[in-house]
Amino acid sequence: MFKFYGAKRRLAPGYPPPEHRVLVEPFAGAGGYAVHHRLALDRVILLEKDERIVEVWDRLLTSTRAQIEAELAPPVGSTCTDFLVALAAGRTTRDTPRAFKVTQRMAARFEPMMRHVAAVVDECRHFEVVHGDYTLAPDVEATWFVDPPYQPVGPGRPDRTRGGRYLHSAMDVDYDELARWVRARRGQVIACDQQGATWLDWNAELAALDASSRSYGEVFWHRAA
Ligand SMILES: C[S@@+](CC[C@H](N)C(=O)[O-])C[C@H]1O[C@@H](n2cnc3c(N)ncnc32)[C@H](O)[C@@H]1O
Repeated sequence: MFKFYGAKRRLAPGYPPPEHRVLVEPFAGAGGYAVHHRLALDRVILLEKDERIVEVWDRLLTSTRAQIEAELAPPVGSTCTDFLVALAAGRTTRDTPRAFKVTQRMAARFEPMMRHVAAVVDECRHFEVVHGDYTLAPDVEATWFVDPPYQPVGPGRPDRTRGGRYLHSAMDVDYDELARWVRARRGQVIACDQQGATWLDWNAELAALDASSRSYGEVFWHRAA
């Protein structure tokens, strides 16, 4: 929907399409897979633990297309409290205080991002966004797109890994527990991580670029309905 660190917007066409008309994304972020398939879905349930991301969703889904189109980028150097402005430049909640200075990059990217949001928002009005942990997802038969923060792989500080940069990060996820939960979902399941992750037996792979344009392998586990 909006720019988001770790979003699956570009990769979304590479995953199997939904086999159900109900989709659950228990680690929502900007819901790249859900937005890509928005027209093929009757019900979309998004869960997200980060309150500021839920606030962004609520604001966009209750704004008109015209209101979103009319939003202007704040001046470079000004103090801003609009988290969407920071998201436009790939900032995460962890790296963005409630009030922050607007950078050149934020100002340049905000309006193009809002034009994209405006173009799709009317087709996403059926999305339901729940604030909370992934385990609060309803136990329904559905397509499940599970995209948690990447499990840390290799040496180095976990908070500096790709999955470590969220407010609710890889360091808070019990991947063994998550694997059990994922396997217990009813319906079609697509669960993602990066190459080297060990919590599921991956059966497919995609080529990806990270936020710094470095290439890496995106792996996923697909169990058809
Ligand atoms: C890799 S991102 C998801 C990106 C998303 N697929 C997209 O296209 O934008 C992971 C998201 O999970 C959220 N998260 C982390 N721990 C969570 C938890 N226990 N329950 C729900 N959401 C969580 C993070 O805040 C982050 O927004």
